Amino acid sequence: MTLTLLFSAPDRIWPLYEAALPRALQQAGIDARLTREAAPEDVDYIIYAPNETLRDFSPFTRVKAVLSLWAGVEKIAPNPTLTQPLCRMVDPGLALGMRDYVTGHVMRYHLGMDRYILGLDGAWDQTAPPLARDRAVTVLGLGALGKTCALALAELGFDVTGWSRKLKEIDGITCLAGPEGLQSALSTAEILVLLLPDTSQTQGILNADSLKHLPEGARIVNPGRGTLIDDDALLAALDSGQVGHATLDVFRIEPLPEGHPYWSHPKVTVTPHIAAETREDTASEVIAENIRRGETGLPFLHLVDRSAGY
Ligand SMILES: NC(=O)c1ccc[n+]([C@@H]2O[C@H](COP(=O)([O-])OP(=O)(O)OC[C@H]3O[C@@H](n4cnc5c(N)ncnc54)[C@H](OP(=O)(O)O)[C@@H]3O)[C@@H](O)[C@H]2O)c1
Repeated sequence: MTLTLLFSAPDRIWPLYEAALPRALQQAGIDARLTREAAPEDVDYIIYAPNETLRDFSPFTRVKAVLSLWAGVEKIAPNPTLTQPLCRMVDPGLALGMRDYVTGHVMRYHLGMDRYILGLDGAWDQTAPPLARDRAVTVLGLGALGKTCALALAELGFDVTGWSRKLKEIDGITCLAGPEGLQSALSTAEILVLLLPDTSQTQGILNADSLKHLPEGARIVNPGRGTLIDDDALLAALDSGQVGHATLDVFRIEPLPEGHPYWSHPKVTVTPHIAAETREDTASEVIAENIRRGETGLPFLHLVDRSAGY
């Protein structure tokens, strides 16, 4: 039987997936029709990224799963019309992109590169940066992306602490967990990387109280979600020197509104939500594998826990 796969995602990515998905489906031995329009009752799977046209999932009575193209599902998971299984994107290409972004920005802070790139003004100060092994980096979130980044940083020699909801054991990483582990995770973080999802538990996790636990002058890299940070508290911490600098890729409102203090703040680097992108070739393989599993009665990969929100 030919499956009907509805591709419901922003227009700009359709040309990428129109080519990559049929290839991956064919390789997985799946007979499917990929379409951007179909009668809801005919659809077997929805390949989805938040868009204006599909918000009500209730007419899709036959759908076996909604397969998200994005890793972050905070805009999909709370949808009350979505009763079918929801799988998030865990894409090796996305993880590699995030690894590159995080290690690059951590290295910028670790080596104090701005001093040299912006110009020394004739100051011949030969103080060398410490070795990576003497630099403590904390990664909040040890999921598909956080773990990849924590391991890459440890491989570079950094003294890495990771924090998650459930306690993990990861070679080379000091693992902490739960609300009781947060203060300790923050207290050593000369450089702090945020790779948590946006949930009711993580919103505002970096606030006036928690920022006080960081070592003075700590650097922050946030490619997680804008809602993780209380912006006023971060701006105050930057101004007081409690936080030395922040590199922010994600914001409560995107695009970051014109005139927002982050744009012009001398201690903030803004990147426009480019840390990591789902790559259509590897992501299509993940989607094809999940459809294959659905069709052969195997459990889906990367199922979202709707009660936890990620
Ligand atoms: N900027 C970009 O371009 C970009 C691209 C892709 C993704 N992202 C963001 O990156 C986030 C992480 O992605 P991922 O694939 O790594 O997600 P994931 O695999 O779901 O991992 C989430 C991690 O956060 C931890 N966590 C969740 N709630 C927590 C809590 N209340 N307290 C402590 N730890 C908590 C989880 O702990 P457990 O392991 O114990 O469950 C897990 O380790 C996404 O949600 C998205 O927001 C950004």
